[in-house]
Amino acid sequence: MRNKYFLIGMSLFALFACVAQGTELPTITLKNGASELIVHGKPYLILGGELGNSSAGTEAQADTIQPRLASLRVNAVLIPVAWEQMEPTEGTYDFRILDHWIDVARQHQLHLVLLWFGSWKNGFSDYAPGWVKADTQRFPRARSIDGAPLDILSTFGEETQRLDSRAFAALMAHVRKIDPQQQTVLMVQVENEVGYRGDRRDRAAEANRVFNDAVPQSLLQALQSKRGALTPELGAQFNPRGQTWNQVFGDAADEAFMAWRYATYIDAVAQTGKEQYALPMYHNAQLPAPMERAGEYPSGGPHPYYQQIYRAVASHIDFYFPDIYWPEFAHWVQRYQALDNPIFIPEAKIDSAPYNALYAYGEAKAFGSSPFGIDNLPLPSNETDPLPLITQVYGALNELGDLLPPAQAEGRTRGMVLHASGPRPSQTVALGGYLFQAALSRSWPAKTLLTDDGGMLVLESHPNEFYVVGSGLTVTMTRDPDVDSRFAGISSIEEMCGSGTHWTVLRRLNGDQSNQGRQLAMDAHQIRIYRVRLYAAIR
Ligand code: DGJ
Repeated sequence: MRNKYFLIGMSLFALFACVAQGTELPTITLKNGASELIVHGKPYLILGGELGNSSAGTEAQADTIQPRLASLRVNAVLIPVAWEQMEPTEGTYDFRILDHWIDVARQHQLHLVLLWFGSWKNGFSDYAPGWVKADTQRFPRARSIDGAPLDILSTFGEETQRLDSRAFAALMAHVRKIDPQQQTVLMVQVENEVGYRGDRRDRAAEANRVFNDAVPQSLLQALQSKRGALTPELGAQFNPRGQTWNQVFGDAADEAFMAWRYATYIDAVAQTGKEQYALPMYHNAQLPAPMERAGEYPSGGPHPYYQQIYRAVASHIDFYFPDIYWPEFAHWVQRYQALDNPIFIPEAKIDSAPYNALYAYGEAKAFGSSPFGIDNLPLPSNETDPLPLITQVYGALNELGDLLPPAQAEGRTRGMVLHASGPRPSQTVALGGYLFQAALSRSWPAKTLLTDDGGMLVLESHPNEFYVVGSGLTVTMTRDPDVDSRFAGISSIEEMCGSGTHWTVLRRLNGDQSNQGRQLAMDAHQIRIYRVRLYAAIR
C-alpha cells in the first residue's frame, strides 16, 4: 500500500514539475481528419523507421544503427524494449541499454518511439522473462483445443498482468525521470500485435468458464450505444438481446471474446504506465489476410472488424493502427480512419513504403509513418548512387518543413499511390479548384511503362500554386467543373529544392519535360519536388 501512495505521489510531483517548467508532454490531436503529434507546442511529423526485432538488444547496436538512420533522414526510430532484458530477475530493472539508445538518439537529433514487448509480441510470449515462462502455475498459459499449454501467456493470468504492468510502469517512471525536458521519447506502443494463435480462442478451463458466462453489461451497453455506427462485420453479428458470448456475437463470438480479454489486459498495462508518465500510447494490429481465419491471424487483435470492442474497453490506449504488409494500403488506412483513429503507420513493407508514405501524409494526413526493418536498408556505396527512395521522400518532406502540417490541417493536401499491378491505371484528386489526374509514366513514342510504381503528395501553397512531391507519375491538370466553368492551363513547372520558406529553382520544366506545356511529367524513378503554377481562364 505504501508503494502505491508513493507512486501516485511521484506521478503528481512529475506532473506539477512538467507544468511548472512549461514542458507539456507530447499529445496527439485529430481535427477535421488531420492528425497531429504536438511536441514542445508544435506539430511534429514523424519520418520514422522501425528496427528489426533483434536490432536494439545491445548498447553497441545503438552506436552503429542510429547514425546510419540519421543519414537516411529518418527522424524517429521505433525500437523494441524487451521485458526479458529489462527485468532479467524478478523486481530488478536494468535500463542501461535504453539509456544508451536515448543518449545516442540525442547526439543525432533523433526521437524514439518505444515498443513495449511485454506479455505478447505477434501473439506469442517470447519476450517475457525466463522466470515468467518457467512458472506456468503463477503465469498460466493459453491452451489449445486439446488442452495443451501454448507459448502464449493467458489473458487470464492475474499475476502476469500485474507484473507486466509493474514492469511497464517502471519503464515509464524511468523515462519520466530522464526525459521530460528533451522529450526524445515521443510515444509508446503497448505490447505488439496481440491476439490468440490457434483455434480462434483460448480453451483453458478458466477461459471456457468465462466464455460460457454472460457478456459484461458495460460492453453490451457501450456497443448498443454505437449500434448504428458498428462496422459491417460487428454489426452483422451483434445481438444486444443475447446473454452469452455465442448469443451476442454469433459466428464472431470466439474472436470478440479474445478481443475483450486482450483489450482489458493491455488497457490495465497502459493505465499503470500512464500513471507514471502520460505519453501517447497506441497498439498495432496484424491484419487478416484474405480468406484467413481468426487464429491464423492473431484472433482478437484490434484489426478493424471488431476494434469497437477495444474502444469500449481500453480507454488508456489513444489509438490503434495496423502494420500494413498487404497491397491494399489505402483501403486499410481508410478503415482505421473510419474508426476515428489518428493516422500513424507503425510498420509498413519497406519496398512500397516510399509511395505509400506520400499517400499517408498527403491524403490521410498522417502525423507519421514507419517502414519495418529500416536498419537493413543498404546505404549507397558511393556518392553518385541515388539515395534509397524512402530517404528521398523523407528529404523532400523535410524540405516542405513547416508548410506541411498546417496544409494538412486546413485540407490543402492530397495524395495518391499507383502500382502497375493495382486495380486502377489512373486516379484523380481535386484540390484548390483543379483536378489532378495521374497515371504511371510511359515512354514516348513506344508508350511502354517507365516504372511499376508511382506516388505523389500535392500541397496547395497559395491560390493556383502547388508543391508536388513524387515520382513515376504523369499528371494532367484541369479545372474542377464542380468549382466553375473556366478552363485550366499551366503557367509554370519548376523543379525545386529548399525549405518551407526559402526555395531555389533547380530547373524550369518546359517542352519535352512538360509534354509541351500540357502535363507534369515527373522523374520516373527519383523523388522530386515540383512547384506547379496553374491558371484558370474564361472560355
Ligand atoms: C509484424 C511485427 O509487428 C514485427 O515485429 C515483425 O515481426 C514483422 N511483422 C515481420 O517481420
